Amino acid sequence: MKKTSFDKLAPWYHFLETISFGNHLQQCRISQLVELNKVKNVLILGDGNGRFLESLLKSNNNAKIESLDISKKMIGLATARINSLANSSNVIFIHSDVFDWDFPKDKYDLVVTNFFLDCFNYSELTKLIEKISLSLKPEGKLIYGDFSVPNSLFKKTLTSLLLLGMYLFFKIFTRISANSLYDPTSLLIEKKFILKNEKYYLWSFLKSQLWIKN
Ligand SMILES: C[S@@+](CC[C@H](N)C(=O)[O-])C[C@H]1O[C@@H](n2cnc3c(N)ncnc32)[C@H](O)[C@@H]1O
Repeated sequence: MKKTSFDKLAPWYHFLETISFGNHLQQCRISQLVELNKVKNVLILGDGNGRFLESLLKSNNNAKIESLDISKKMIGLATARINSLANSSNVIFIHSDVFDWDFPKDKYDLVVTNFFLDCFNYSELTKLIEKISLSLKPEGKLIYGDFSVPNSLFKKTLTSLLLLGMYLFFKIFTRISANSLYDPTSLLIEKKFILKNEKYYLWSFLKSQLWIKN
């Protein structure tokens, strides 16, 4: 089976995001930045066109950042975005499928997954949480920013329909393996992560969580 590819979508990604969600996704991505100004070793998974990366570099001069993505085009966009920043040399881009990459053990103070874990089915998600957990130092942080399904019946119905449309779109254009959204909360609790902070946006359709590895 052909692998996921965001290459064709990459040049349109920012435009499509803006016409669909305005600036709300970016608000969600950067909502925990104040908690991250002291982190040193950072891994950003499925970093895409680098909007979170740019904000992190601007708010934290010293972080050494590894930014991993399967899409060459997305990496190209992220590289161009951060090129003019004084600390851009603090970033190493890794072009790899996350499942082919050897996660180092106990290395990172922070792992970031913004709108990334939603690309995977439940068994892949389980494997990824395991890898993320092993690669974080004790007390290391995990930022999970993604879509969520609110509780109220009206919002739940509306967001479920939106997600159905989005998954259909991404399946056709990027061949992601997921058919629906899985919330990683129970997997993270199983791995002894503790939820430190969470913020909701766009009628709770978007959430940003800060988890600490125990
Ligand atoms: C929905 S986009 C999100 C991008 C970015 N994090 C954001 O906040 O907009 C998902 C990103 O994950 C990358 N990706 C998807 N599957 C991947 C995989 N198996 N390994 C590495 N990167 C992957 C895609 O290339 C894309 O850049």
